[in-house]
Amino acid sequence: MDLRNTLFMKRESKRSYHSRPIPKGVMDRLWERIRWSPSSSNAQPWRFIFVSDPEQHQKVMAGLARGNQWAAKAPTLVVVCARKEDDHIRDDNGVQYHQFDCGLATMSLLLGAVEEGLMGHPMAGWKHQPIAEALGIPDGFDIMCVVSLGYKAPIETLEGRAREYDESPRTRKPINEVITVDRFDFSVD
Ligand SMILES: Cc1cc2nc3c(=O)[nH]c(=O)nc-3n(C[C@H](O)[C@H](O)[C@H](O)COP(=O)(O)O)c2cc1C
Repeated sequence: MDLRNTLFMKRESKRSYHSRPIPKGVMDRLWERIRWSPSSSNAQPWRFIFVSDPEQHQKVMAGLARGNQWAAKAPTLVVVCARKEDDHIRDDNGVQYHQFDCGLATMSLLLGAVEEGLMGHPMAGWKHQPIAEALGIPDGFDIMCVVSLGYKAPIETLEGRAREYDESPRTRKPINEVITVDRFDFSVD
């Protein structure tokens, strides 16, 4: 099987967007995919807020880092949040499953986006307060990620840093640095 044409390989975090809105039917299917994500003890702790209203969109943009202002063109910004109280606590391992599960559900969104001809780009560069205030996110909920979502535009629509990033090749560590078989066989600094 050639991996090149699979969703996994077609998913990418680029920065050039058309402002064309996402049709409702497409949105509904994305939501359904998110809903069916796996979670520890099936707790489904994720809360996704899809922001397409221009005024709300602008407010979320104001909370994004300067280096993420290319996201302004994306018609929808998705804010992923969760609270620790909804965690499936396991005393024996200390993993924050509400965070882990949000990651899984966000991947559902990202791969679902590819399947729908869209591009999602996850971001960690934002400030909690302005986004929480604009969207009415209650105390106790942490924002995990903001994802820009929309149809990809040609790279020529970008300029400056964002264009430089998108022109540089996507890279990965070699397999032997991240995966081993039967034992922890990685070099550790
Ligand atoms: C949790 C998370 C946070 C990220 N934050 C940002 C960000 O703030 N700004 C940005 O331009 N890209 C951000 N990225 C995108 C990564 O840089 C990108 O996923 C990585 O370089 C691999 O490229 P690829 O997604 O095209 O495979 C983030 C990705 C993840 C998963």
